[in-house]
Amino acid sequence: MAKVNDNYLKLPGSYLFSTIGKKVAAYSQAHPERKIIRLGIGDVTQPLAPAIITALHKAVDEMADAATFKGYAPDLGYEFLRSAIAENDYKGRGCDIRADEIFISDGAKCDSANIQEIFSTDNKIAVCDPVYPVYVDSNVMAGRTGTWDAAAGTWSDVIYMPCTQENDFAPELPDETPDLIYLCFPNNPTGSTITKDQLQIWVDYANQVGAVIIYDAAYEAYISEEDVPHSIYECEGARTCAIELRSFSKNAGFTGVRLGFTVVPKELKAGDTYLHPLWARRHGTKYNGAPYIVQRAGEAVYSPEGKAQLKKQVAYYMKNANAIYDGLSDMGYTVSGGVNAPYIWLKTPEGMTSWEFFDYLLEKANVVGTPGAGFGPSGEGYFRLTAFGNYENTMEALERIRMM
Ligand code: MLT
Repeated sequence: MAKVNDNYLKLPGSYLFSTIGKKVAAYSQAHPERKIIRLGIGDVTQPLAPAIITALHKAVDEMADAATFKGYAPDLGYEFLRSAIAENDYKGRGCDIRADEIFISDGAKCDSANIQEIFSTDNKIAVCDPVYPVYVDSNVMAGRTGTWDAAAGTWSDVIYMPCTQENDFAPELPDETPDLIYLCFPNNPTGSTITKDQLQIWVDYANQVGAVIIYDAAYEAYISEEDVPHSIYECEGARTCAIELRSFSKNAGFTGVRLGFTVVPKELKAGDTYLHPLWARRHGTKYNGAPYIVQRAGEAVYSPEGKAQLKKQVAYYMKNANAIYDGLSDMGYTVSGGVNAPYIWLKTPEGMTSWEFFDYLLEKANVVGTPGAGFGPSGEGYFRLTAFGNYENTMEALERIRMM
């Protein structure tokens, strides 16, 4: 008789953004006349940059001609894209990362969920709290997290590293030694960052205790301050303790196009075993590569025109971030994030829980945000707004919040 993976049955509720989607759909159905402004999920709204569109068109034309047609992509990614990434994202920042250490994928969400597969189920994970739910849920599915405590909103075998106003939303080294450490900076959901010196402490710690850091740098394009690292490989010793995840979704508007990559340095080991061949094996067996046309679009991100156009796109979203930050501060909210990240993290007013504030905002302002509790227990009492809306809607949302 077929049996299911019991670990799936342990997962409480549905995926955070599916829950929000369902709630908003129900509200919308009940009030079809109301215009809802969505500042919940971090989904981009601006069209793809012209350099990317040109590259896509050209690649589509190549697919229409037998002489230039492409079938399966190389499973680890096309050389032209891996080289462009190594040159621009790493060499350009003084990081020693080579093209053959870069694995192209269809996005960082899948990679961040899949990467745990190459580690033993005995490994103990440490996560920031609040945290992007994919890191925890994918480990639940793998049976690595123990039992769920519904009252506390925690798993018995996960090390939670609280990130609150008191520690400036930056995790402290845990008391218990983890095997895998998930870090995301600029952070989703709090929008906080850490300096290169702070990140160096994590790298030194991981090397000392033999842990692997899974570093999610999906939002690096939003960094505006000098001392904030764009890559963990800016830190000395990171090649022997860190995997880095990157996405084209937020820096180039690819949420609907799908492209990302993972870096696994060749020196990186867990115990005595090198991880690069394991991830290559996993990729080769389970994945047929991101589409050629999409990888050509990714290459255009690094062209001079692409870079200039995307700088403007990032600035567009950061104008929203500044407006939300300033607007809410003026209204008396306690606000953080939004300086090196497209997320604004605010304290819910008058002791409301984050889901109460979600309902209140939806009802009174018809604005959707993301309740902090959805990201973990330390997110309770906080709320996330994204800067990825269009400017006019963002301004209207702020006005409606002011009038509540
Ligand atoms: C978010 O809103 O947290 C992100 O958009 C989710 C994602 O990138 O998968």
